[in-house]
Amino acid sequence: MTTSAIQFISPLTFQALSGNPVQTQLLDTEQENAMGHINLARWADKIIIAPATANIIAKLAHGIADDLVSTLCLAAECPIYFAPAMNQAMWHKTITQTNIKSLQQQGMQLISPEQGLQACGEIGWGRLSEPATICDYLINHQLTIDKSLSGLKLLITAGPTREPLDPVRYLSNRSSGKMGYALAEAALEAGAIVSLVTGPVNLIAPIGVNLITVETAAEMFDAVISRATSHDIYIGAAAVADYTPIKKQTRKIKKQDQENSVSLQRTKDILATVALLPKRPFVVGFAAETHDLETYALAKLNQKKLDMIAANWVGHEQGGFENDNNALQVFWHTGQKKLPMTDKKQLAKQLIALIVERKK
Ligand code: C5P
Repeated sequence: MTTSAIQFISPLTFQALSGNPVQTQLLDTEQENAMGHINLARWADKIIIAPATANIIAKLAHGIADDLVSTLCLAAECPIYFAPAMNQAMWHKTITQTNIKSLQQQGMQLISPEQGLQACGEIGWGRLSEPATICDYLINHQLTIDKSLSGLKLLITAGPTREPLDPVRYLSNRSSGKMGYALAEAALEAGAIVSLVTGPVNLIAPIGVNLITVETAAEMFDAVISRATSHDIYIGAAAVADYTPIKKQTRKIKKQDQENSVSLQRTKDILATVALLPKRPFVVGFAAETHDLETYALAKLNQKKLDMIAANWVGHEQGGFENDNNALQVFWHTGQKKLPMTDKKQLAKQLIALIVERKK
């Protein structure tokens, strides 16, 4: 425990609740060589700093070793994980994000904070991940540490598009972008270089991703097509609008007594266009269906000339567009696999593993 941690919980309480001895001092006179930090560093299989304050993150980023925790981390050779917890403004500061990136470049693993009500009363990013999430991460990370996408470049789309009707209104859909962002994170963890083309979403991009923000289907088309051939894998996880208003009114449309209608035209299919490119990447599409999932998914796999398609049910209570959970049925030309309902982050790791397997 650091000096700040002791201000919140006494070491005695921590010891009683955990059933383990608590170390607080850098130089431990009870140890034969008074080198408690070196002994602890040698002893640990993994180190997890939770909560990791902006202060400890900054210290570790700069190699400062002025207390037991920072010195232990500097002396350790085992994997180090950190789960940040701080005020949302502190989390968004460039210096904090730079320090986090530096820790990741040194090989430390970030367990991203969550969004929500904070101890200070503010709402935003920086809330410590739930203990169960931290444990899940530690267990699952062991499975994906193999860097199976090392050296490969992935292009991923995520979120909805917005098709403007007038300066204040647009047509869009319920896509949260969570699946695409989780895929980007899983691909980064597996060692890939990742570009994420995203429509408007309320998510923080994984650190280390090359983020390209777009709004309309036409913008997403241009962003993807100009980059696709320089990538090894393309995953179209965005819910791209199929139609866009023929005319975008330059002034706000005024309400009238009589009925009104909007004429729509088809957007260009980004996924199918990528699949037709001469030097195309390995192409993975998504299919969100309310019925006849397998029939539609297989039809899309063939018609759009994809290598793989991940299909999921939407419009049902569990899973799908706005949920944290999802289930997928993945099809390719010679087989299929069901990935049962789970957290989108876990599902993303499983889908990435399947892509690695099929791409070989
Ligand atoms: O045909 P459908 O829209 O159901 O296909 C869904 C898949 O196609 C998704 O992978 C989506 O990202 C992609 N798509 C696209 N461009 C469009 C429409 C869909 O890339 N204009």
